Amino acid sequence: MHHNKAVEIKNLHYKYPDGTMALDDINITIEHGESVALLGPNGAGKSTLILHLNGILRGNGEIKVFGLPVNKHTLKEIRRRVGLVFQDPDDQLFCPTVFEDVAFGPINMGLTKEEISTRVNKALASVELEGFGKRSAYHLSFGQKKRVAIATVLSMEPDMLVLDEPTSNLDPRGRGKIIKILNSLPVTKVVVTHNLNEAAKLCKKAIIMDKGRIVADEDIEKVLSNRPMLEAHGLISS
Ligand SMILES: Nc1ncnc2c1ncn2[C@@H]1O[C@H](COP(=O)(O)OP(=O)(O)OP(=O)(O)O)[C@@H](O)[C@H]1O
Ligand SMILES: [Mg+2]
Repeated sequence: MHHNKAVEIKNLHYKYPDGTMALDDINITIEHGESVALLGPNGAGKSTLILHLNGILRGNGEIKVFGLPVNKHTLKEIRRRVGLVFQDPDDQLFCPTVFEDVAFGPINMGLTKEEISTRVNKALASVELEGFGKRSAYHLSFGQKKRVAIATVLSMEPDMLVLDEPTSNLDPRGRGKIIKILNSLPVTKVVVTHNLNEAAKLCKKAIIMDKGRIVADEDIEKVLSNRPMLEAHGLISS
């Protein structure tokens, strides 16, 4: 029995240091095990919003993740439970080798050497990068880096996956494989994407953002069948 929601955000506002108002009164609730597509045009505030889910950005308002208010006392626990894949893999990968990047989470969780290497190998296999452990992420292609970034959170086996455009730049086979893997994981998911087809394959619910605000939050079929709304917010072109 979960009494808490996976995510509860109330009256969240965020302004970047240069004065850009990126989040303007965000209110959302995500249930345990729910999968939510976060949609919206470029600059809508999607990446800014998800960076609040594990305390990388701290705006004004109330955010609870698994019932925990996001603050300096809960940050470690929240980051263990929330696996966040950044939009740009260069923000995620900082170790000399792919193995070390993917092992980083499991090492921090205090797992044994054996468990760590099992998790790393499993995560790399999931993103079709078996045998890449010794490589330097720096010298990989963009799509390969994106896969490593996804592997760094899969290896943590988190309770919630937050993925910022996980399949952008992946080839069709790689995209299909990632969708299959994500659908096989029964955890809470938030997926930022511009691909409505993929959103429908992955998610039950959709949240549409535009200009820092939530403009829709309902079942994905409802959202995807409302063509005037999709057009108004730049999700389909006329
Ligand atoms: N570091 C920053 N400093 C100032 N403004 C920023 C910064 N990062 C983003 N912004 C601004 O905040 C707003 C929201 O940006 P954000 O990156 O969250 O949009 P997004 O919905 O993720 O867009 P995209 O689909 O292009 O990834 C935009 O107006 C953007 O220009
Ligand atoms: Mg973004």
